[in-house]
Amino acid sequence: MTTNEKPFSQPCENNKGFILAELKKAFAACNHVLEVGSGTGQHAVHFAPNLPYLHWHTSDVEDYHCGINQWIDEFPSENLSRPFTLKLARDEWASHCKNGNQFDAIYTANTAHIMLAHEVELLMRSIDQTLPKKGVFCQYGPFMVDGKFTSASNAEFHEKLINSGRGGYRDIDELRAWAPNLSLNRVVEMPANNLMLIWER
Ligand SMILES: C[S@@+](CC[C@H](N)C(=O)[O-])C[C@H]1O[C@@H](n2cnc3c(N)ncnc32)[C@H](O)[C@@H]1O
Repeated sequence: MTTNEKPFSQPCENNKGFILAELKKAFAACNHVLEVGSGTGQHAVHFAPNLPYLHWHTSDVEDYHCGINQWIDEFPSENLSRPFTLKLARDEWASHCKNGNQFDAIYTANTAHIMLAHEVELLMRSIDQTLPKKGVFCQYGPFMVDGKFTSASNAEFHEKLINSGRGGYRDIDELRAWAPNLSLNRVVEMPANNLMLIWER
């Protein structure tokens, strides 16, 4: 769907306020946030000006860059970077934090059920290895908890994802096993049967 030719996601409009409230707390002491899978770019243009003390770095696979740039063109922010190419299981991200800085925060939304299992495993292992001590990782989306779906609609969507070649829902315990150096400090219930997982190194 498009609005003024920009890509548009209604769920992003619905959830951005709730997510921002959690990011304000979780990223209060962070400086450089890497967003993995920025999608349309709507989250980035909303969050960056509302978190003015940090720098927000967008990333995604190439196909999404045009749309993210359209949103940034319309809603630029001094602390918001244009997207760089990041495809898990192909590209690294450390070199994209400039001037000797490092990403001390990672944000990703609605990616763990889209990526294939080995890509999510690599995401978790990479964050586990590269996030500095006290770094924070905020991971939003639908997840399985103790081997169960959190709603019937989530179970149905998981089936559709599997049938279309996507990875499908991941269980929180599986994510935890891939990131032994991260502690899952908080699991926040969010609207529409989503969760915000707040990990710290
Ligand atoms: C459902 S969209 C979510 C987009 C946005 N974060 C949101 O919440 O609306 C899934 C995103 O994951 C990205 N993605 C899927 N596989 C990926 C991979 N292997 N590496 C990096 N990003 C990936 C897609 O390009 C897409 O932007």
